[in-house]
Parts: sequence; structure tokens; C-alpha cells
Amino acid sequence: MATETKRSVEQSWKLFGRAEEVIPMGTQTHSKAPRSSMRDVEPCYLVRGEGCRVWDLDGNEYIDFRNGLGPISLGYRYPAVDEAIRRQLDSGIVFSYSHPLEVEVAEELIKVLPCAEQVRFLKTGGEAMAATHRLARAYTGRDQILTCGYHGWINTMSKTGVPEATRATYTALPWGDKRPFEEFLQAHPGDVAAVSVACSYGDIEQGHQFLKDLRELTNQYGVVLIYDEIVMGFRLRRAGAQEYFGVTPDLAVFAKGISNGVPLSCYVGNRAVMGTVQEAVISSTFGGDTLGLAAAKAVLDVYANNDVIGTIWARGEQLHAGFNAHCRRLDVPVCFKGAAPVGQLVFDHPNSGDLFLRFNAEVLKRGLIIYSVCYTSFSHTEAIIDSSVAAMGASLEAMKNDGLFDS
Ligand SMILES: Cc1ncc(COP(=O)(O)O)c(C=O)c1O
Repeated sequence: MATETKRSVEQSWKLFGRAEEVIPMGTQTHSKAPRSSMRDVEPCYLVRGEGCRVWDLDGNEYIDFRNGLGPISLGYRYPAVDEAIRRQLDSGIVFSYSHPLEVEVAEELIKVLPCAEQVRFLKTGGEAMAATHRLARAYTGRDQILTCGYHGWINTMSKTGVPEATRATYTALPWGDKRPFEEFLQAHPGDVAAVSVACSYGDIEQGHQFLKDLRELTNQYGVVLIYDEIVMGFRLRRAGAQEYFGVTPDLAVFAKGISNGVPLSCYVGNRAVMGTVQEAVISSTFGGDTLGLAAAKAVLDVYANNDVIGTIWARGEQLHAGFNAHCRRLDVPVCFKGAAPVGQLVFDHPNSGDLFLRFNAEVLKRGLIIYSVCYTSFSHTEAIIDSSVAAMGASLEAMKNDGLFDS
């Protein structure tokens, strides 16, 4: 795999041309938009997956480190999950009253998520984060939310289309340092409903002190502490950052890895804050869809009976060590940073954006799909990681030989 193979992605780009006519940006998900600079190599469409492999519209095979942008924690078409979905499909998908799975999965989640006394389900991560913000406001009677990190499009205030009055109720602050949070809380005591935080990737280890500090500050000011565990849940640890760092928030959102790819999110937390759901009117027709819940139940079972987290970590560590060794051997300013299950690929170079795109192109030619954060899954084997590291090393070497790292 370290060697380049001739691949055509012609059918993919032809279909993408049609897509651009009928779908703005040609896709629903910004991070899935193909990049014109990679026209000869980037597959716009994937049509099949199995374990850690995927196939594109033109029939090319790849090892996938994007994992559907995070949700594929166990691997594509993981048998126990697929079987659970099929079984549920035979009985129906959504009903006019609740389904028992809602209770069963909530009970299982409460057993494994430290902050969860109660659980509610939705379909996407972003809407569940919006629900936690609504709950925190309803509970505290305050408007202001201090955010840290990306929480989905609904909660993104920095772009157009958001009324100024709404934007003014969100303040985005950086990861890792309690001081801006402390200063804001001191300057606006009684205004802040919640601190809402998603872990950073490259410098995640700062979370040991940072989350402890945020917990103390939010306790001191009567503010709801919310963790966005959408990526970290079922990956960093089963219960995400709250388990890894040992600091329990009031509310948290889990999505992505919870159901191995079937759309499902949940917001969980302490009884007092969760209890405001009725007055805050958080309700959705598809909140209790049974396919997502059947998948989540199967995923919880697989995690309970296998060392999924240990495997994801071990493969991630193997990937990081192997790749970083190539970077040192070639003397190029590139490395994986951060925790092994969510390693961030960092190009420490003035031309980092172009270098990252070129690296993407080079690894695609060698049969790898990567992302700025590379996710390992339970289905990546040691041998697959070895061959992937070799392909990444060969890609860097080709770039170096082309003089791309000369400054
Ligand atoms: C940390 C984090 N929070 C929230 C979201 C939004 O989740 P969704 O795309 O399911 O709305 C994402 C999506 O990538 C995310 O990475």
C-alpha cells in the first residue's frame, strides 16, 4: 500500500458536478465537500464500508481514518450492531407512543455515564447541544452561554444569519486557560447560564487542570457546566472526557460513537437541570426512533464485553508512534498531537494549509482516507496500522523529494 496505484475518481466527480446543480455546496456536510485541488484523487462519494475499509463510487478501496467524521467507533457494518438494527426494522421504526428501548437505553447509559441521572434522545449532536443551552437558561433564568469549541451549526454564532441579539448571548472563549472565563464571570455575575465546553484535540491534556478549574468556577458562580462529548464519548473513554479527566459536569451530550453510525444523540445530566425539559419545551418527533436506540443498545453491549477503548487507544498510539518516527527520519515539521484516539495532524509550517491538502492527496493515491483529526476504530488491526503508517511515510517522502518542505 505504500506504493501509489493508479486510481480514477471520474464517476465521483461527474456525480458531484450534478450535485452542485441541485445541492448548495454539493453536499450536506461542509467537511465532506471535495476539494477542487484534489480533483484527480479525492473520492466525492463512498458507497460501501466494511470494518475499517470503504469503497468509492469508482470502485476504489481505502483504509478509512475519517470514520464517517467520527461516528464509526466499532467499524463499518459491525455485525452485532447491524443485526440489532435489522431485528428492530422487522418490528417498526417510529411509533405513535414511546418505545421500550427509550427506557432500556436510558437505564444503560445512566449506569456508565457519571453525570447522567436522566437521559433524553434526539438525532444530531448540534441540536442536543442547543437543548442543553436551553435547559441551562431555563434552570438559571440567565441568558449568557460561554462556549469553548465547536458545538454544531445551530450553536455557531460567528457567521451570518444570526440576529445580533442572539449572538450577544454567546461568548466564545479559548480552551486551556481558566482566566478569560473567570474574568467574564467576575465582570458579569448573575448573567451566565452555562459554560459549554468541547475538548480541544492537540492540547487535550490541558483538560486535567482546565476542566477542574471550570468545575470550581461554575460551582462558585452557580453556572451549569456542560460537556460536549460528541467526539470524546465512546472514544477517549466510554464516558468521554468526564471519565478520562475525572471531572463531572452538570449536563453532557453524547452522539457520534454512541450508535456506530445510526443517527442518535442524547443529552444527559442531573435531575434538577434535566427536569426543566417540560417548561423549556424540548421535544422532537424522531427523538425516540428505534433504529438509533437499537444500535446504541448493541454498541453499549459490545463496549461492556470487549476492550473497545483499549483497542482504539492502542491502534492510535501505534499510528502516532509510527508516523512521528517517519517525520523525524525525514526531518519534516509534521506530527500527530493529542490523545491517541483523536490525534490531530499538525503541519508546523507557514504553508501548513497547502501541505495538509497535498498530504491528503498523496495518501489517497496510496489508499488512505484521512482527516485533520484521524480516528482509529475497533476494526483497525495492527497490520492495517502498519501498512497505513508505511503509506503515510511514503507520502511525506514524496512531498519532501518535491521540495515542499523547503522554506
Ligand atoms: C465537538 C462537536 N460538537 C458538535 C458537533 C455537531 O454534531 P452534529 O454534526 O451531529 O450536529 C460536532 C460535529 O462534528 C462536533 O465535532
